[in-house]
Amino acid sequence: MNTAALMEAKGLMKAFRGAETPISVLESVDFLIGKGESVSIRGESGCGKSTLLNILSGLEQADAGSLTWGGVALAGKSGAALARMRAALMGFVFQAYYLAPELNALENVLLGARIAGRLTRAHKERAEALLVRVGMGGRLRHHATKLSGGERQRVAVARALINDPPLILADEPTGNLDEATGNAVMNLLLELVSEEGKSLVLVTHNPEYAARADRALTLHLGKLSQA
Ligand SMILES: Nc1ncnc2c1ncn2[C@@H]1O[C@H](COP(=O)(O)OP(=O)(O)OP(=O)(O)O)[C@@H](O)[C@H]1O
Ligand SMILES: [Mg+2]
Repeated sequence: MNTAALMEAKGLMKAFRGAETPISVLESVDFLIGKGESVSIRGESGCGKSTLLNILSGLEQADAGSLTWGGVALAGKSGAALARMRAALMGFVFQAYYLAPELNALENVLLGARIAGRLTRAHKERAEALLVRVGMGGRLRHHATKLSGGERQRVAVARALINDPPLILADEPTGNLDEATGNAVMNLLLELVSEEGKSLVLVTHNPEYAARADRALTLHLGKLSQA
């Protein structure tokens, strides 16, 4: 075992079986990410990038293959154990933000902490500090519905970091933003990940963003390879 590996997958296979012919999405994918490392994943629409992230984060099950988090095998873990381990290991940023609309910016960030356990004073201080860091200090109590797309994604970045996880998984985090706003959010995400010494798995269609990761991978025809 590579002791520095935060996450390691071997031989992941995944097919979706519907009424029609089965779609083979992953055909023996190996993946490894170490502490403080950033990895980008590109690939055409529908090639299985989100499916791969869902499997790596334990939200979906592979048909075959193995997955370890911090050297611990996930096979046979209960849903509750997986959820606890997931909350400690990773934070997520999605294309569609997924903020709770009835909550304000601060409450949305704290929601991530509540899921991981009891809310403490330290959580509140970290949430406020993160929101200030992502440029949302003037909008702590703005409801999610009153924020722009770029502002929502800044809140989502703060939320991903609230539990201080060693790993951030970002699935097309700039996909819904215009170019300038997307650039600003991407710069912020990469800066924060580097400042806080986090690892990052970044799924993106943008070749410039992909090239900014330590390693750039491409998913094509069910296989992951160096871009
Ligand atoms: N739950 C599911 N049931 C059946 N098919 C699915 C399911 N989830 C995904 N697929 C199929 O698997 C393939 C990969 O989907 P996935 O969402 O992983 O692609 P992607 O690379 O993330 O695409 P995009 O860049 O558009 O986000 C697609 O053909 C999709 O239709
Ligand atoms: Mg996707």
